[in-house]
Amino acid sequence: MSEEKTPGKKPRVKHKRTARDPGQNVKTAKGRKSSSTQWLKRQLNDPYVREAELKGYRSRAAFKLLEMDEKLDFLRKGQVIVDLGAAPGGWSQIAAQRGAKVVAIDLLEMDELPDVDFAQMDFTDDDAVEKLLAMLGGRKADCVLSDMAPNTIGHKQTDHIRIMALAEMAFDFAKDVLTPGGTFITKVRQGGAEGAFLKALKVHFKTVKHIKPPASRKDSAEMYVVGLGFKAVE
Ligand SMILES: C[S@@+](CC[C@H](N)C(=O)[O-])C[C@H]1O[C@@H](n2cnc3c(N)ncnc32)[C@H](O)[C@@H]1O
Repeated sequence: MSEEKTPGKKPRVKHKRTARDPGQNVKTAKGRKSSSTQWLKRQLNDPYVREAELKGYRSRAAFKLLEMDEKLDFLRKGQVIVDLGAAPGGWSQIAAQRGAKVVAIDLLEMDELPDVDFAQMDFTDDDAVEKLLAMLGGRKADCVLSDMAPNTIGHKQTDHIRIMALAEMAFDFAKDVLTPGGTFITKVRQGGAEGAFLKALKVHFKTVKHIKPPASRKDSAEMYVVGLGFKAVE
């Protein structure tokens, strides 16, 4: 709680709402759209947001990667990891903390992180793969992680097509850079990856599964498809 003093006026008491206060209600929605009020309320009452703040993680998304790794055990010290759609940096942070060297990109800017080589770029640009390969400098990747999410427009089919297009592009890139035995993770939408995409993944990975980590909001349509044990097939 802090006080703001204006000469001649009664001091206004400004309540600092922090994500650490549990069970908060957003009382004043004046001038705020109800969707942003809902978002704010959800953020303030979200235990993952509080925990991320306490642990110094860049995003609550960090827990999704931690939970997927807890289940599937793919992060290792000394790995080379590509993080597509990395901002604000939760996944890159976790990977680097586990002792990996990370190559990360995003449409948005991202603050620097130790052991993370970041470039702001659109993965769908014609020269994106070339730039990523240059960042890898001839190294193969042990994991290609994609949490890329296009802005949803609320039209189910269109949103599905757009996220699947990114997932397929990420897979094509993964096939070029993964080391044998490597891991690929990409975000998809509820209902999972389509048959043809899954079939292609199954050709290239020993194990393919869908996963919705507990940190992924129940009301969100997102889930992840994971390929473990990359096989370089012609
Ligand atoms: C859910 S956020 C990623 C959160 C991140 N994994 C973390 O742990 O902080 C999705 C990101 O994908 C990025 N993105 C969406 N489309 C992209 C594209 N075509 N190229 C690069 N990044 C993209 C967005 O800018 C956004 O920052």
